[in-house]
Amino acid sequence: MKFLPLFLASIAASVAAHNNRRVCKVKALGGGQDDGPNILKAFKKCAKKGKVVLDEYYVVDTLLLTTGLEDVEIELSGTVQYTPDIAKWSPQSYFMTYQNATTAWFLSGNKIHLYGGGTLDGNGQLWWDTYNISKNSGTAGGSSRTFARPIPLTVGNATNVLIEDLRQIGSPFWNNFVYQSKHVTYRRINITAHSYSSSPTANSDGWDIYRSSFVTITNSTVKNSDDCVSFKPNSTNVLVSHMDCDGSHGISVGSLGQYAGTTDIVANVSVHDIIMKNAQYGARIKVFGGSPDANSTAGGGSGFVKNITFANFQVANVEGPIYINQCYMTDPEVCAKYPSTLSISDVHYVNITGTSAGTQGTVVVDIQCSAQCKDITATGTNLSPPNGTSTYVCKNIVSTNQLDFNCTAPAADVE
Ligand SMILES: *[C@@H]1O[C@H](CO)[C@@H](O)[C@H](O)[C@H]1NC(C)=O
Ligand SMILES: *[C@@H]1O[C@H](CO)[C@@H](O)[C@H](O)[C@H]1NC(C)=O
Ligand SMILES: *[C@@H]1O[C@H](CO)[C@@H](O)[C@H](O)[C@H]1NC(C)=O
Ligand SMILES: *[C@@H]1O[C@H](CO)[C@@H](O)[C@H](O)[C@H]1NC(C)=O
Ligand SMILES: *[C@@H]1O[C@H](CO)[C@@H](O)[C@H](O)[C@H]1NC(C)=O
Ligand SMILES: *[C@@H]1O[C@H](CO)[C@@H](O)[C@H](O)[C@H]1NC(C)=O
Ligand SMILES: *[C@@H]1O[C@H](CO)[C@@H](O)[C@H](O)[C@H]1NC(C)=O
Ligand SMILES: *[C@@H]1O[C@H](CO)[C@@H](O)[C@H](O)[C@H]1NC(C)=O
Ligand SMILES: *[C@@H]1O[C@H](CO)[C@@H](O)[C@H](O)[C@H]1NC(C)=O
Ligand SMILES: *[C@@H]1O[C@H](CO)[C@@H](O)[C@H](O)[C@H]1NC(C)=O
Ligand SMILES: *[C@@H]1O[C@H](CO)[C@@H](O)[C@H](O)[C@H]1NC(C)=O
Ligand SMILES: *[C@@H]1O[C@H](CO)[C@@H](O)[C@H](O)[C@H]1NC(C)=O
Repeated sequence: MKFLPLFLASIAASVAAHNNRRVCKVKALGGGQDDGPNILKAFKKCAKKGKVVLDEYYVVDTLLLTTGLEDVEIELSGTVQYTPDIAKWSPQSYFMTYQNATTAWFLSGNKIHLYGGGTLDGNGQLWWDTYNISKNSGTAGGSSRTFARPIPLTVGNATNVLIEDLRQIGSPFWNNFVYQSKHVTYRRINITAHSYSSSPTANSDGWDIYRSSFVTITNSTVKNSDDCVSFKPNSTNVLVSHMDCDGSHGISVGSLGQYAGTTDIVANVSVHDIIMKNAQYGARIKVFGGSPDANSTAGGGSGFVKNITFANFQVANVEGPIYINQCYMTDPEVCAKYPSTLSISDVHYVNITGTSAGTQGTVVVDIQCSAQCKDITATGTNLSPPNGTSTYVCKNIVSTNQLDFNCTAPAADVE
């Protein structure tokens, strides 16, 4: 449908009405100038029952803190490209309370619909090249306060959000963060993190979910080198389906238990119809070990993982198709002395099939719990290594008779 934009010479964002909806169309300045201030103006004008149109090529060098939105449509049919201005972005990006994560765009409010087939370009190459040399990260590969790599799009403190038909490229860090939000749906999102130099991409997760519930991610593709989707602390009632993940670290519950004295919960998660190829892991649960340090930011947290279903995974060239580890990034000796107290139960693997990469020899399943894992079931498992007969490694699983394969003990536990 057409609407008539009203051009005002001095205002780059034109305002018009369309179906009772105020429309704010942002005019790009061109020549590499910062379109951020005009985008912010458009969001301010169209914050209630408005529509923001981003149909050109925009360069953004200013933090997009678009909050207080109520019933807003965002048509992103053009390209939003962030500047690779590290000196500016690292301090100006919006700081959140988990793993030093910061963002370039904090999208917040109620009833938000972002769509349009356009591109969000994180301009990650310079970030990756710089990180490759400085290795300036936080604990467990998180971001660092002194080199904060912003997330291109965070849905934060928000409710009732639908994001669809978007291309995301070159994120300096995670691509999407769902932060303290409820009822957020993503569909038909294509994500690529590709480095054109010898520096690898870093922390290029497709999605991370934190303190959020009722999150749905479907019909999307992710080509990256870190988690395809990651359920961080307090992700509940999450559905992930019809995903094509290439090159990732799998679909991961966790990491959890990173912060001593903190309770992490991941529950009611359904992940199904996943094509997982060329990946480190497939269906994964990762938890830090315990810690003697009451202020630790590298283990010692508690909580639980409960009611998780991984179904209909087709894996190809995946190093660890089914994997549970409770000594994530923890020294094995420390982990043995201070085992994780975070409990894992009610985890179901249904119809996980395909071939592993062979890097773990014949091991296709490796599920090792510290405290006992209860109600772990597997049906329809059909996994094979490139060569030889499958090995299934299990430790501290209460009833292995609910698994449709025969477990062997981990090598280190066999005398
Ligand atoms: C995402 O990829 C699919 C499949 O390749 C393609 O049909 C679709 O147009 C892409 N969407 C966007 C927004 O780029
Ligand atoms: C946050 O960044 C600082 C460095 O700026 C680092 O010391 C700290 O470990 C980081 N925290 C986490 C949890 O990554
Ligand atoms: C998000 O919510 C937290 C409280 O939960 C608040 O401290 C923070 O300022 C909010 N951020 C924004 C940008 O609204
Ligand atoms: C990335 O780091 C590796 C190892 O230190 C180095 O060999 C390579 O040249 C670096 N690449 C770039 C583009 O800086
Ligand atoms: C996702 O794709 C499946 C088949 O590929 C289709 O049946 C379903 O309607 C799609 N869902 C959405 C939300 O686009
Ligand atoms: C997770 O939720 C529980 C229960 O509401 C709460 O006690 C805990 O502090 C939350 N943890 C985080 C990391 O928000
Ligand atoms: C398990 O989680 C699913 C959503 O993934 C939910 O529909 C179901 O009610 C949950 N079951 C229990 C027993 O909590
Ligand atoms: C999981 O879902 C069940 C059933 O809807 C609900 O009773 C329970 O509170 C949910 N658990 C969490 C941690 O949200
Ligand atoms: C933990 O942090 C608190 C507050 O910063 C400090 O008082 C305490 O000494 C620290 N404890 C340890 C074991 O480092
Ligand atoms: C098993 O999963 C595959 C996709 O990986 C799907 O095509 C097939 O229909 C599933 N089988 C059953 C019995 O659900
Ligand atoms: C499988 O075995 C063949 C023949 O021994 C060997 O050439 C090939 O490299 C092996 N593949 C892997 C992935 O181990
Ligand atoms: C497990 O081992 C038992 C005893 O050796 C054997 O009878 C059974 O067929 C095996 N089950 C599977 C799924 O391989």
